Formats: sequence, C-alpha cells, structure tokens
Amino acid sequence: MSREQLPRLYRFVVLISGHGSNLQAVMNACESGELPGEVVAVIADRPNAYGLERAYKARIPAVYKPKRATQTRREYDAELAELVKVFRPDWVVLAGWMRLLTMEFLNHFPNQVVNLHPALPGQFPGMHAIRRAYEAFLRGQIDQTGVMVHLVVDEGVDNGPVLLQEAVPIHPNDSLHTLENRVHAVEHRLLVAALKDLCFNGLPKLAV
Ligand code: GRF
Repeated sequence: MSREQLPRLYRFVVLISGHGSNLQAVMNACESGELPGEVVAVIADRPNAYGLERAYKARIPAVYKPKRATQTRREYDAELAELVKVFRPDWVVLAGWMRLLTMEFLNHFPNQVVNLHPALPGQFPGMHAIRRAYEAFLRGQIDQTGVMVHLVVDEGVDNGPVLLQEAVPIHPNDSLHTLENRVHAVEHRLLVAALKDLCFNGLPKLAV
C-alpha cells in the first residue's frame, strides 16, 4: 500500500530527554516514506535536549516541559498526558526519554506507548544500560547485549511486552564507545522497524 493510498498518516508524538538520534531516525523514516506516519510533536523534559533543535529544524512542534520541583511525578505525568493528548497521537514514542512514567500518564494511552531500551529483555533495566553491559563484558560475564522495543503498560522499568528485540555482539577489542556506536545503530533501525510493524499490522496478539 503506497503512502498515498493510506487512509491517513499515523501520528507519532515523540518524548525525548537528550541527543535525539532515535527521534531523528523516526523523522527520517517518515520523511522517506518508510514509515506511514508523521512526527506531530516532540516533547522534552530537559531544556538542552538537542532533539528539540532537530524538531525546530524540521518545523515540528517542539515543547520543553520540565517537571517543577514542587510537583510530584504523578502531577507532572497528568499534565504531560494533557499536553500529549492535544496532538492526538496514534503512538507515543519514548526515544531516549529518561523518566519513568506513572499510570497517571499511561492510563490515557493504553497500549499506545512504545519504549526503546538499549538492552535485551530482563537485562540491565534502567539507566546506563550500555555501560553496565560493557562492565559485565569486562568481567567476562557476557559476550553480547542488545536492543529492544516494548510497550509500556505499567510502571515497571523497561519490562513491558516486547515488540522487537535484537542481540548486539560485544567484540573482544571493543571500547565502551565502539559498543555504544554499534548499539545506537541497531536502535535507530529497530525503533523504525517496530513502529512500521505497528502501523501496518497493529498490536501483536501478546500485547492486547
Ligand atoms: C539511547 O541509547 C537511548 O536508548 C538512551 O539514550 C541513548 C541516546 O538516545 N535512552 P537519543 O540519541 O537521545 O535518541
């Protein structure tokens, strides 16, 4: 089905906290037509997130929404949900988003929140996953790590129903930097592939 034949483009709202290389991969895939969708908004919780710059350059609505010190996580998440709803997303994509979302947010987007995590299911949940994998490699405990894309259905950390996963080998002469580069390259490809799958095939059976 060509892009023109589609009933409409799928709407992605992308949440970021940093460099935005995964956001850029999604933007590029929408631009090229590989993804039958469009990034309709980018929201960052940090003012210096370079991903905001990427959105500005692409004329995509970009919003910096910090959590106020006086706010609880749930209060912030309730506000964040109202902001995201304005853009009527089909999918909310967490691409380098560094906050755990509570049900105050997730309840508004059932089975619509997709997270990218640079580790295999059940391994290295949370922050600095690549560094922790590299340290385990140096201790001789592992010789591969990986990337997964999963749905975020509850307040668990990086442990929702897996949509796609791919192992990433760690080579004997790898540095943390060379491993990070290899992992990021897989992330950019896997995130687009997972979103493409969702657009064309909907939710997999396991996830509903
Ligand atoms: C990626 O490994 C992402 O999974 C992690 O931060 C890294 C940079 O992501 N959360 P990006 O360049 O900001 O998309």
